[in-house]
Amino acid sequence: MLDTLTISTQRTSAPRLPGIDFAQLDFGKTFADHMLVVDYHDGQWQEPHIVPYGDMSVSPANSAIHYGQSIFEGMKAYKNHDGEVALFRPLDNFHRFNASARRMCMPELPEEVFMQGLLQLIRLDSGWVPTDAGSALYIRPFMFATDAMLGVRPSESYRFMVITCPVGLYYAKPLRVRFEETYVRSAEGGAGAAKNAGNYGAAMYPTKLGQQEGYNQLIWTDASEHKYVEESGTMNALFIIDGHLVTPALSSSILDGITRRSVLQLARDWGMPVEERKVSAIEILDAQRNGTLQEAFGVGTAATIATIAVIGYQGHDYELPTPPADAFSRRATAALAAIRNGEAPDTHGWMVRV
Ligand code: COI
Repeated sequence: MLDTLTISTQRTSAPRLPGIDFAQLDFGKTFADHMLVVDYHDGQWQEPHIVPYGDMSVSPANSAIHYGQSIFEGMKAYKNHDGEVALFRPLDNFHRFNASARRMCMPELPEEVFMQGLLQLIRLDSGWVPTDAGSALYIRPFMFATDAMLGVRPSESYRFMVITCPVGLYYAKPLRVRFEETYVRSAEGGAGAAKNAGNYGAAMYPTKLGQQEGYNQLIWTDASEHKYVEESGTMNALFIIDGHLVTPALSSSILDGITRRSVLQLARDWGMPVEERKVSAIEILDAQRNGTLQEAFGVGTAATIATIAVIGYQGHDYELPTPPADAFSRRATAALAAIRNGEAPDTHGWMVRV
């Protein structure tokens, strides 16, 4: 058991940072110099290590590969104008990570391992946090089963890791999305609220079909009636209808997004009515036709706030107006950026200094 937290650190002897062009970053392809590794076996989390980023070996019988016990988080670190680095709502990610672990029958991680591991890793690689508008250090904590065993049962050993990569904007342009009425991302009672790898793998084929039709992403609908909005791609879906912020209520099939929580909080701070409820595809399209659908956008850690320009439904494309400068989604984007880069007061205590 971890009585006191010691994190051994082995620094890379070949830093790659000096050769990195921060202006040319494809999302998720350039990794910072170090990573955190913590193993779990014999019913206990072992000592954390920070080591140079690199490949690792796993058994061909690794049970995460065969049966999918694998979860992850997405979070970001930002650098303010004074060069100080801070994480955005890391404890929210920690709590969601452990909720995912419970759903996937994996061991929960102690808070100090998650937080201390993260802080020490980001401190060491703070030079990798970019400063350009819209950019950040994307942080990927993840855990996977490590038993070499083909029987179907929860693994008895696991590895928790954190890798990081400097990123720019996830979506460069407003999105074309379409309602998905054949495939489902997740059903009520399934594992859609957990951030487990399989949710993403299962979404790839239907998303590819949508992309072949010219859409960037899908808007998933509910598994039983294909009537109600669930999520949009890897983001929560939000709509401004007649001045109200409307978004699907959380359920066992919807991820409890941290950007979603933050945007809802901003709306409430600004006195805007917020409705977390069932919202149907027909309601959205009726609102588009009668002009009350003012904005549609997806929110997520990677995407931040992504404008939706076109919604496809049953062979028709419904266009949305370009959000004006005072549109809610644009004000929320600017407000989040200002909190993250230290230009606006952090009234909700969302930033954690590294
Ligand atoms: C995130 O926004 O962090 C996500 O999980 C999306 C990711 C799969 C790129």
